[in-house]
Amino acid sequence: MAKVILEVRDLVKHFPVEGSRVVVQAVNGVSFTLAAGETLAIVGESGSGKTTIGRCVLGLVPPTSGSIWFRGHDMGPRWNVRSRALRGKMQLVFQEPGESLDPRMPIGRSIAEPLGLTGLSRTARDQRVLQVIQRVNLPVDILDHYPTELSAGQQQRVAIARAIVTEPELLILDEPTSALDPTARAEIIDLLMGIQRDLGTAYLFISHDLSAVHQVSHRIIVMYLGRILEQGPARAVFRTPRHPYSVGLLSSVLLPSPGLRRETSFVLEGEIPSPINLPPGCPLVSRCPFRIDRCAKEFPPEADVAAQHVVHCFRHEDVAAREHATDTFEEFQRRAEQILSVNPGVARAVLAGNVMTPHSPKPEGVQNGIQHQTE
Ligand SMILES: Nc1ncnc2c1ncn2[C@@H]1O[C@H](COP(=O)(O)OP(=O)(O)O)[C@@H](O)[C@H]1O
Ligand code: SF4
Ligand SMILES: [Mg+2]
Repeated sequence: MAKVILEVRDLVKHFPVEGSRVVVQAVNGVSFTLAAGETLAIVGESGSGKTTIGRCVLGLVPPTSGSIWFRGHDMGPRWNVRSRALRGKMQLVFQEPGESLDPRMPIGRSIAEPLGLTGLSRTARDQRVLQVIQRVNLPVDILDHYPTELSAGQQQRVAIARAIVTEPELLILDEPTSALDPTARAEIIDLLMGIQRDLGTAYLFISHDLSAVHQVSHRIIVMYLGRILEQGPARAVFRTPRHPYSVGLLSSVLLPSPGLRRETSFVLEGEIPSPINLPPGCPLVSRCPFRIDRCAKEFPPEADVAAQHVVHCFRHEDVAAREHATDTFEEFQRRAEQILSVNPGVARAVLAGNVMTPHSPKPEGVQNGIQHQTE
């Protein structure tokens, strides 16, 4: 078993609302571990608390309570990813490369900047910058250019080069592919997977891009309104989701043929409640077709459904009984390959990421990002 390098224990983050006594309950008691060289994805609709978890792990916002352990050390309430003590062992890549790159700084200096934390000599730093720019498949002469002269995909490569220049053990990636066109997106996913193979870096991969998550993750956490609802090996969660919310989320993937849907026996309806002063109980209660009286009163305890696969739902056995094991993405790939043999042009567009996520525009028959059954 690989060594655990990140452990998050009972993390709570509430943001006070200015001029009132109410709070936004962004994260409500989240615990997980991440092992060396592993990719753990956090998925869920917008507002579920994914970014806030990332920012707490990076020390960019202080938790309300709970603790963050990195390489066996409790990081305490006051620290930051840029603190010298960490020596760049934890790094970050955000959705907008502009968040990690200073537009007034040439690319070479931007990439070298985190090396200031490592105590390396000037020559060693220059060598390291040359190595990483080549590792992310960019020409060396780009080091003298400025971010605005680069495409979005190139900027994200630079952001990744800057993140890996200190040889981190952990990368926090918050929607790293969401601002990119399909080609750049596929290239960045390949690059990240290659880097992990070569360097053994662990990734906390925060994303609502379910097809990217399917490609890169070993394990998945499904979040809703600040709570983990399901957690398990990626293959198990994609094939046999056991929480009604995960089933709904995975059903929202649009497959290449309109007649092909993930077979589900139900649809999630209703609005996402406000995260302000949430009531006790299961956060999905207002939208869940399986709800019973007890759901509104207490948050369901963790239940084991298979090896390392856990779920928080009083009725997970009923969900299991009604859902067939189908991996939407495997089906998607199979269908796209079928089309490829008939019409390569259409297939390329499909494979390049024509995937419905909860954030994509909603075609007819779709509510709340959840695809309705047509049969
Ligand atoms: N600085 C902040 N102040 C107040 N509320 C915030 C702040 N940051 C995030 N939130 C709220 O916390 C909730 C979770 O947000 P976020 O972590 O960004 O979710 P996600 O990344 O899953 O979309 C949202 O309701 C959001 O509006
Ligand atoms: S605990 Fe109840 S409301 Fe929550 S997902 Fe399960 S059945 Fe639905
Ligand atoms: Mg976010």
